[in-house]
Formats: sequence, structure tokens, C-alpha cells
Amino acid sequence: MKEFKGRVAVVTGGASGLGYAMCERFAREGMRIVMADIKGPHLEASAARLRAAGVEVLAVACDVSKWEEVQALAAAAKKAFGGVHIVCNNAGVRTMTRIWETSIEDWRWVVGVDLWGVIHGVRAFLPDMLARGEPGHIVNTASTAGFITARMNAPYSVSKSGVIALSETLYNELRHDKLPVSASVLCPGTVRTNLRENSNKLVPSGAPVASHPQGKLPDELTPEQVAEMVFDAIRNDRFWILTHPSVHADIERRAEGIIKTGKVASAN
Ligand SMILES: NC(=O)c1ccc[n+]([C@@H]2O[C@H](COP(=O)([O-])OP(=O)(O)OC[C@H]3O[C@@H](n4cnc5c(N)ncnc54)[C@H](O)[C@@H]3O)[C@@H](O)[C@H]2O)c1
Repeated sequence: MKEFKGRVAVVTGGASGLGYAMCERFAREGMRIVMADIKGPHLEASAARLRAAGVEVLAVACDVSKWEEVQALAAAAKKAFGGVHIVCNNAGVRTMTRIWETSIEDWRWVVGVDLWGVIHGVRAFLPDMLARGEPGHIVNTASTAGFITARMNAPYSVSKSGVIALSETLYNELRHDKLPVSASVLCPGTVRTNLRENSNKLVPSGAPVASHPQGKLPDELTPEQVAEMVFDAIRNDRFWILTHPSVHADIERRAEGIIKTGKVASAN
């Protein structure tokens, strides 16, 4: 995509962290913004913050794990703006329990938001984007956890590796059929956001998700730095958005385990 002014970007999980920074970054290009997030005061507050900066924002309360709500989001975006050009399937949550101690409702919750939310977003928006035939881009938020697993993080890693597989397939299918919409997958390492705190408020079982460690981690990025990388990937049609070079060695270790040593590489 090369033209952004006046075009429309939808961002799920847009009221906080990475999603909010993406909304801000797209708005700087003169785009109109559809900010989707779960119902609550932080959606309206974040939308109001962008509007105060003169941005045209449609705020939609939407639980991305629910197909009907994502369909309603797509309908609301089309009604308000006529069609969308960028969709960032970015909403995410996590837990912090061992596999055998994770409740089935927590499994359903994380996979529902982190994987089904992306499936819903692609299915709800892409047919209309393709029917309109204009250049467009879909960015799905995965994580380095989709490449390299860590203890106490299984529902998240399962979902994020699914998002990577879905996104690679999507990119290939769009390329194969020479369609004007492209795709990227965002795989961040640690970014300073409220992911753990927000997940703590929502987790069905109440099992605590550890809070963010105090102080800055060595290669931690800000949401704004990551949003810049996302925008750059859309502008230059780059599929992989790997924000942290430190993950390269992890990926090599994993590949070596698969191909040579038969060992499992873990992040912890
Ligand atoms: N922060 C990191 O270190 C990091 C690293 C890798 C990947 N990620 C991914 O980045 C994405 C954004 O997370 P963040 O770090 O900005 O956290 P965040 O908590 O600041 O933002 C996530 C947003 O998603 C929203 N959300 C939660 N459940 C939802 C639902 N059912 N429907 C709609 N919205 C919902 C939350 O309300 C919140 O506004 C997530 O997919 C996360 O997994 C984050």
C-alpha cells in the first residue's frame, strides 16, 4: 500500500498498548480510524484522546472472540466509512499457568481472543476488501512466543503459532491469486504495555497473570517503536515483522533442534 491519506484502518485491541500506538501512527498519515476493543471506559477514553488530536475515529465495542461481534464491527466500519484498507487483528490476552493447571475456560478465553479473534477478523473484513479491489493490507499480531515456547505460556504460544501459520498461508493465497491486498505478521518480543494488567482484569478463572517486571528490560521496546515498524512493513509490503533481533538466535536454536539435535528449544 502506498496511499494512506483518507483511507481507513481498523485496529482491534486498539484502546491500549500496541493497538493504540498503531491507531496513532496511521492517523499521522491522515487515515480514518476504527478503534475496536472490549466494552469499557478505556475504549471511549482512548478514542476521545485521538479525537482531541483532530483524528476521525469510530470507536466500536467488540469482543473479537465472538464471530457475531466481529461481523457487526465490519458492518459498522463499512457503514461509517464505506470500506476499509488496513485491518490489524491485534487484540490479545495471556495467562500464566502450567498446562495441566490451566482451566478449560482460560484455554478457551486465550485461544478465543488470540487465535479465533484473528480468524474472525480476516473472515469478516477480507471478502469486502477484495470485492472493492483497492490496495489493502492485513496485519496479524502474533509474538515471538509463536516461534519459541516458554513454560507457563501454552495457550498463548499455541494461539500465536497458529496466527503465524494462518498469516503465512494468507500471504501465499493472496500472492498466488495476484490480489491487491497483502498481509504481514507482527512477532514482537517484549514491549512495554499493560498486557499482563489488562489480562489480569479479564481472566475467567481469576488465576493471576504476573505483573510486568519493574524497570526497563534490556531490549524492551515502546509501542510507538513497534507501530513505526508495522507502518514501514505495510508501506514496503514486508511479511515478517520481527521487532527484536534477539529472537533470531532462538529461531536458529529451534531449527537446529528440529533438524539436527532432536532437542526442544525453550525461552525459559
Ligand atoms: N506487550 C508485549 O510484550 C507483547 C509481545 C508480543 C506480542 N504482543 C501482542 O500484542 C498485542 C497487543 O497487546 P499489548 O501488549 O498492546 O497489550 P494491551 O493489553 O495494552 O492491549 C491489548 C488490548 O486488547 C484488548 N482486548 C482484550 N480482550 C479483547 C477481546 N476479547 N476483544 C477485543 N479486544 C480485547 C484489551 O482490552 C487491550 O486494550 C497482543 O496480541 C499481544 O499478544 C505483546
